[in-house]
Amino acid sequence: MTNETDGVRSKIETLFPFDWDLLKHAGAEPVPNHLSKWWFALGGTCLYLFVIQVVTGIALTFYYVPTPDQAYASVETITRELRFGWYIRSLHKWSSNLMIVAVILHMLRVFFTAAYRHPRQLNWCIGVLLLATTLTFGFTGYSLVYEQLSFWGATVACNLADAVPLIGPQIAYFMRGGPEIGPNTLTRFYILHLGVLPTITIVLIGMHILLVRLHGVTELQFEGEKKSESHSHFPFWPEHATTEILIGVLLMYVLTILALVFPAELGEPANPNVTPEHIKPEWYFYFSFRLLKLTSLKVSVVMTLAIGLIVFFWPFIEGWLIRRFKISDTFSVVLGVFAFMGFLVLTVWESLGA
Ligand code: HEM
Repeated sequence: MTNETDGVRSKIETLFPFDWDLLKHAGAEPVPNHLSKWWFALGGTCLYLFVIQVVTGIALTFYYVPTPDQAYASVETITRELRFGWYIRSLHKWSSNLMIVAVILHMLRVFFTAAYRHPRQLNWCIGVLLLATTLTFGFTGYSLVYEQLSFWGATVACNLADAVPLIGPQIAYFMRGGPEIGPNTLTRFYILHLGVLPTITIVLIGMHILLVRLHGVTELQFEGEKKSESHSHFPFWPEHATTEILIGVLLMYVLTILALVFPAELGEPANPNVTPEHIKPEWYFYFSFRLLKLTSLKVSVVMTLAIGLIVFFWPFIEGWLIRRFKISDTFSVVLGVFAFMGFLVLTVWESLGA
């Protein structure tokens, strides 16, 4: 049996001259004990949900037609006529929502455990870009359905882009594919959703995980834990990989239950001549939408951009504040709590309000 295995292995090695021991070595990488808790290993959940998005997205592409006169009808066919079409579409929709939740939770755990600090600042910045691509995935995907709310949501988003200082009009023109929303807009969102964003996200995830591997995962010491305990590790393969696979199976159950109980629905088809009474984006843009209602288009765009830039550069800003003003460790924690509470309040407020 061993001889047979060795034979197969040497044949593979001849056909594909790669040092397979490298894989074994990579799999044996010890990971810190705290990663056995799901809360600390949420990055794997984000990755898993992204893979589900790619697989279900490819399946949907076979039937979706990206033209204004056929887009809605093709989604209707997928939902009502194709065998298991409703299931694939619902999985795609729910995993996109869960992925956004998982990315936000992963970001919170990295922030509140200060795992973004030296030498991991660059990986934090890559993470923020991943958050941006994940949100843009959600927005462009929603627009592809071409129902009233998604069409008018895209119109508001183009107006928001228009209000970006200096380069806003150019961004809006690029998004619309012309001075007005039209057939080019849908084609552009389609290319972004199916080509540009997946490519950028895959490259970013690759760089993100490579950096995690190069730096190793942050060692954390919990209260009441002895120094020696906090440094105990377990191997990535098979222990950690098994936990990740089990989480994957559990997530598949959760997604299926959500798809059965709350299947993806379809609203009215898009009508560019009739503005709906209440335009609402997807929940993850509620905070920004509420900000818009509380201030003005220009102010809300500038505030959202400023917040995004502060979050992106936070590891460097914090470093500077520590050097210049000797701020304590708790400063970031308090600021993080206030910022997240603000996000929650605006989101819940928008979800309750008209
Ligand atoms: C598609 C989205 C993302 C994926 C697939 C992903 C994946 C991962 C994985 C697998 C890890 C290893 C350990 C863990 O699970 O915590 C990790 C760690 C890390 N992630 Fe992410 N991540 C994503 C988004 C983000 C975001 C939005 C941020 C922050 C803005 C971020 C910042 C970090 C940092 C700094 C680490 C190192 C943590 C440590 O050393 O303890 N990631 N990520």
